[in-house]
Amino acid sequence: MATIKKINDLQSTEYELKKIFADAEDFLPLLGTDYVEFYVGNAKQSAHFYKTAFGFQSFAYAGLETGLKDRVSYVLKQGKIRLVLTSPLEKNGEINAHINTHGDGVKVMALWVDDATKSFEETIKRGAKPFMEPTKEVDENGYVIRSGIHTYGDVVHIFVERKNYTGPFLPGYKKWESHYNPAPVGLKYIDHIVGNVGWKEMNTWCNFYADVMGFTQIISFTDDDISTEYTALMSKVMSNGNGRIKFPINEPAKGNKKSQIEEYLDFYGSPGVQHIAVATDDIITTVAAMRDRGIAFLYVPDTYYDDLIERVGEIDEDVAVLKQHGILIDRDEEGYLLQLFTKPVVDRPTLFFEVIQRKGAQSFGVGNFKSLFEAIEREQANRGTL
Ligand code: FE2
Repeated sequence: MATIKKINDLQSTEYELKKIFADAEDFLPLLGTDYVEFYVGNAKQSAHFYKTAFGFQSFAYAGLETGLKDRVSYVLKQGKIRLVLTSPLEKNGEINAHINTHGDGVKVMALWVDDATKSFEETIKRGAKPFMEPTKEVDENGYVIRSGIHTYGDVVHIFVERKNYTGPFLPGYKKWESHYNPAPVGLKYIDHIVGNVGWKEMNTWCNFYADVMGFTQIISFTDDDISTEYTALMSKVMSNGNGRIKFPINEPAKGNKKSQIEEYLDFYGSPGVQHIAVATDDIITTVAAMRDRGIAFLYVPDTYYDDLIERVGEIDEDVAVLKQHGILIDRDEEGYLLQLFTKPVVDRPTLFFEVIQRKGAQSFGVGNFKSLFEAIEREQANRGTL
């Protein structure tokens, strides 16, 4: 017994030391996701959609009325999630070029940091390509420092240091008051944001997150894990030190027919953000509300639920209700999760959302991949792109 105790003590000491070492080594401490910015063709109408269908609340605004000449941005909020929808007000420029190439899509995954200057310097030192030098933005509410680096495709990470700021969003934005305020649907925070990259580029970008941003790989799926009769993909999940930021990276794999990742790349024109997973504490209520408000979700056949309890064990929810909403369930060693995927929310078959409720499980629903991808293939077949 004494020996076992000693080993346990040693192991816990080793664990503590590793933890201290890891904390000391985290050269890019991230406090959370700050905002996600989309470049869209018509920000006013997109804002209406995200308010109506997703229950986001009017939060902040910048445009002609606040002194901007070239662009307009609507900021929406729900729980801790902030979306920024930006459209150009002129015919040329990078926003137009982005929309021309990609359609509506994610430009910025902004990360909340304590020190945006250090975040920039540390990542540049490790090989990041600069997008925005550390810049101090000031108004009557204080100041924010932002800096930015490029990641896959045309996507960038902006580091946001806001500890000296008390305004609604960022300097230059005013509070957005609206008479139209549909109720929230229960979305709390961003769980993960997934990127699709090109053939054989997954490891390149995982190495980028490891070497340049200090992330570690927490999960890996090969095409054996993620393939159906027709199509395949590979995926690795990268996480920052405190686990608050998780970026899965997908690449297409060879199958008999066209991989959904390849379809994305064809339509998006480059690597980019494939889906944003948003967390809820009550997926049934959230999904029912979103469906009522016009969101279309991927359909899984009723047979998915036939042997559900045998596959995932006892769950708190009524299977009949989950089936009615088409909600998927998966279990890992730590618990289970419930998830559901929207159809693309833009015209091109590119960006979609995932709604996820975690009940202990920290994984990503690998047990659902096959059913899910078959559902996506049915959509691809409808589009004539399988
Ligand atoms: Fe996901």
